[in-house]
Parts: sequence; structure tokens; C-alpha cells
Amino acid sequence: MMFPIPPREFPNEMPPCALVIFGATGDLTARKLLPALYNLSRENQLPDRFACIGYARRSKEHKDFRLEMQEAVSMYGNHKELDVHAWERLERRLFYHQGFFDEDKDYVSLKDFLKRIDTEFLTEGNRLFYLSTPPSNFQEIIQRLRKHELFIPHEERNSCCSKKDSWTRVIIEKPFGHDLKTAKELQKCIDDNLCETCVYRIDHYLGKETVQNIQSIRFANKIFESCWTKECIDNVQITVSESIGIGTRGNFFEQSGMLRDMVQNHMMQLLCLLTMEPPTSFSSESIKKEKIQVLDNIVPFSEFAPSVFPAVRGQYGPGKVGGVSVKGYRQEDFVAPDSLVETYVALKILIDTPRWQGVPFYLRAGKRLEKRCTDIAITFKKPIHGDFFAKERLENDLLIIRIQPDEGVALKFNCKVPGVSNLVRPVKMDFRYDSYFKTQAPEAYERLLCDCILGDRTLFTGNDEVIASWKLFTPLLEKWMTDPSDAVFPNYVAGSSGPRCADSLIRSDGRSWRSL
Ligand code: BG6
Repeated sequence: MMFPIPPREFPNEMPPCALVIFGATGDLTARKLLPALYNLSRENQLPDRFACIGYARRSKEHKDFRLEMQEAVSMYGNHKELDVHAWERLERRLFYHQGFFDEDKDYVSLKDFLKRIDTEFLTEGNRLFYLSTPPSNFQEIIQRLRKHELFIPHEERNSCCSKKDSWTRVIIEKPFGHDLKTAKELQKCIDDNLCETCVYRIDHYLGKETVQNIQSIRFANKIFESCWTKECIDNVQITVSESIGIGTRGNFFEQSGMLRDMVQNHMMQLLCLLTMEPPTSFSSESIKKEKIQVLDNIVPFSEFAPSVFPAVRGQYGPGKVGGVSVKGYRQEDFVAPDSLVETYVALKILIDTPRWQGVPFYLRAGKRLEKRCTDIAITFKKPIHGDFFAKERLENDLLIIRIQPDEGVALKFNCKVPGVSNLVRPVKMDFRYDSYFKTQAPEAYERLLCDCILGDRTLFTGNDEVIASWKLFTPLLEKWMTDPSDAVFPNYVAGSSGPRCADSLIRSDGRSWRSL
């Protein structure tokens, strides 16, 4: 059966605004933000009165920036052909402002430029500042925005959030801080300069349709709701496998590593949505409360003896991905030739709650693996009456939530083979978004940018969530920093399924990773 997806509806008309992207020459702007803005332009979902200003250090003309962004849209966008009209609609509103993050005069000129934009594009003083720079620049930018009154907290004027007055919002990219201490410092800077209701902490995984669907699978289906417990579930594997390397982001990645880049934020969001208790309502606050409960109940890494330590790391060496030879991590640009930064992490997580005691959650995330695939595999226990099926060894039922690509959900269960015997074999039911809904799900950043413009913070992370996650991972990061004995890198070949230590981690429990 086919179910045509209804057009997206926005509760309000999209309000006018100017979007300023700090760090506009970076990877995120090219890969995600501009393709998302272009898609919104294609679907006529940008406000009529809108402008986007790229702010970065390099000197550049507006026309060169536009050209680069057009190339980015063609390269990273999800449409084969550029819709010239949609691109032109966006291009007309696209500008470049050269500026340093720590130079007062550049903020003064930005302020003047925004006034001109208001006059020309009727953006009514509404501002969306997107901090897409290395995290080390966040505080500097926030302080200067405040100093130059580009952001005025609502206690000091009528309101920065109200729909009547003009508003200012600040979007903060992940990672929010570098560890627990720096996350708290960043939050202090926010508390001192902004108001929390105007802060949008982005974790773009929350904007993915398939991630939002986790709640629907769990809470809108009795068959899943009733077996979402340790009594029925044997183990869960969460995989975020990327075939890409670190590209031009060597500088960033050397400061970050895989644990900070993917696990502390994206993977923890997946884990929390999968394991949280049913929230009292679907309000953002109730959901955040339940997610924090999960994070607070994860067994800390310090409680494991070295022989069963549940975290391993890896780094890719040279190899072949999709038949093409690629460099090892240490040969990438801006990476130290003896770097100990991890590009792969595997963990076993235990959640000490009545629902999950004893159920292992195996998480793995890696760059330059054999293929791109993000999914969640829930393996159910064998049935009590399994022995009834004679000599046949029953396989465990398996529910697979495919986050990307091939977005969908598959269920593998046992079924009788036609004939006189009692033979059973696993069979598979497979739901695919694209064939059922006959459309591509919108990119996460499309949804999130629209929500920022509309002032809807539901899909953005709260400070308490971020802090709870750093509390868990900071001791592990410190251990890895002070004891590099396990970082004998490179320890996996680019294009493989990851390092051996990850196999040993799961094998010691008598299990193995699903193939990628
Ligand atoms: C980003 C990370 O947050 O997510 C990148 O910084 C990573 O390193 C990207 O490649 C993955 O996003 P997606 O949507 O392609 O899974």
C-alpha cells in the first residue's frame, strides 16, 4: 500500500529574519546548511522576507561566496539537478561578511550590514545567529554579540523572544563544550549574556525523521511497547558507521575525536530515545527529563575492572573504500603524524534501572568503515517454548531500525516452513520510507532551521542533558588521555569493519557485531 505524505504544515507563517552563519567557509555550511536552505527554497518554505549572511575570516566577495555555495549544493545536496529558479531565489538573499571572531570592528560592521538587510529585505530586526565555528570560538562570539548589542537579553528590553517585538536567537552547534568543565563554562557564558529561551543547542540527529520515529515505534504500538524490557530484550546494538574520513576537518577532529564528535551527543540521543521511560507528556520538557534519567543511570566507566573495561578505541590506517585508495588518518591534512586521536569507538553500556538491568547496549561509531550505515538492532530473547521445535535451533527475533540510508524498519521472526515437518526459519518483514511514503524524508537541518525560525525548541537539547552526558564521558576521556597504552594506532584498515579490539569487546559476552 502506498501512503502519500501530506505537505508539511507550519503552525504559523514563517516570520521574516536574517540568518548569520559564523564559520561560513567551514565544512558544515557547505555540506549541510546550504543544501538545507536550498531545499527549503525549492519547497518555498523559507520566509518571504529572508536573508542569509555568511560570516568568516577569509576575504571574499559576495559573488564568490555564492558560487562556492552553489557548488556545495550541487555536490552535497540530495537532488541530482539544480533547480535554477530555487537556487536564484536563495542566491539573491545570500551575502558574505568578512570578519574575525575576536575583532570588535567586525561586529560593528556586521551590525550596520544587518540594518541594511532589514531595510532591503524587510527582515524586521529578527536575527538568527548560527555558531558553526570550532567550539573554542563560541564564548568569544557570544560575548561580542552581547557587547555590540547584537543580542540584548529580554530583561533589558521588551522581549527578545516575543512574536510582537523583533527577536534574536542563537544556534549552538555541537559539541557543546570539550568536557564537563568546559561545557559548564560555556553554559555560564550563556547565562551571563543570553537568555536560555533564545538558545538552540543543535544535535542534528534529533531532526532526522527516523530518529523522531523511535518514539512512535515505542509508544504508538502495543506489540513493541509491551516487550520493551529486560524480560524480552537480550541485547541492543547501535551502529553509526561512516565511509567518509575526516576530509578537510583535520584541525577540528584533532581536538575532538570520535567520542566527542559522535558518541557523547548523537549516539547518546539515540540511546536515550530508545530506553527512556514513557514521558508524562510529549512536551519537550517531559522528554528531556526522561532522557536525563537514562544518562544518570548508566553504570559509570569507573565501576568496571580493567579486564572487563567496556570501551575500546581505534584509528584508521590507509586502505580502500569502495575500491578507491584512501589515506590513513595520520596522513590526512592538519593531523599530527603520531596522532592518538580516535576515529572509532566501541562501548558496552549498562543502564541500572528496573527496565534495563542486565541488558547490554553495544555502541560502535567509526569513520572510514566499509560502508555508511546507521541503525539500531534490537535482539529479543528466545521464546520459553523454543524447545518444542525439535532439533531446529531457533534464531532470536530481531527488530532493526534503519536510521540511514534505506530509512525503514525491519522485523525478523521465525516462521514455519511449508510442509509436514515442524521446521521453522527466520523470515523478514521490511518497511521502507521511500517506497511507502513515496517521498524523501526532509534533511534534518531543514526541519531544525525551520524550527529555529518559528521559535520551536522541542527538538533541541537542554543544558542538563548535555551536562549529564559529559559527566559520563569525561572520566573516560581523561583515562584515555592519561593512559595511551591501548592506543596502538592505526589499528584498522580504512574500508574494513573496524578494529579487532571491538570484536573482542563483544565476543567476551559470547556475541558478535552484526555485519555492516
Ligand atoms: C556530525 C559530525 O555531527 O555528524 C560529523 O561532526 C559526522 O563528523 C556527521 O560526519 C554525520 O552526520 P550524518 O547526518 O551524515 O549521519
